[in-house]
Amino acid sequence: PKVTYALPDGTTHTLDVPCGQSVMDGSVRNNLPGIVAECGGSCSCATCHVFVDEGGACFDEPTDEERDLLEYAEGARPDSRLSCQLILSDACEHVRVTVPDTNG
Ligand code: FES
Repeated sequence: PKVTYALPDGTTHTLDVPCGQSVMDGSVRNNLPGIVAECGGSCSCATCHVFVDEGGACFDEPTDEERDLLEYAEGARPDSRLSCQLILSDACEHVRVTVPDTNG
């Protein structure tokens, strides 16, 4: 699946991210800035906060744990997710996320 990342500096980057990897993995492995992912993807830091602009229906609903963490994420909105919890699958075609500038 393709993932487009709109970064805080105004640039956008579209990458192929393999199924089974998360939106966070795709960013970190390609050295994009903005998704800090301090906890390495274990849903405990919220520094991988993104807004899902398009294509989010292919992801599982947030767990209670994710919802709790998002309450503390700065600038959280209804379309906020933790990108380490957004696992790509065949159901995903093109996902677009905006990375806020508040991830630390
Ligand atoms: Fe820490 Fe996602 S990487 S919550």
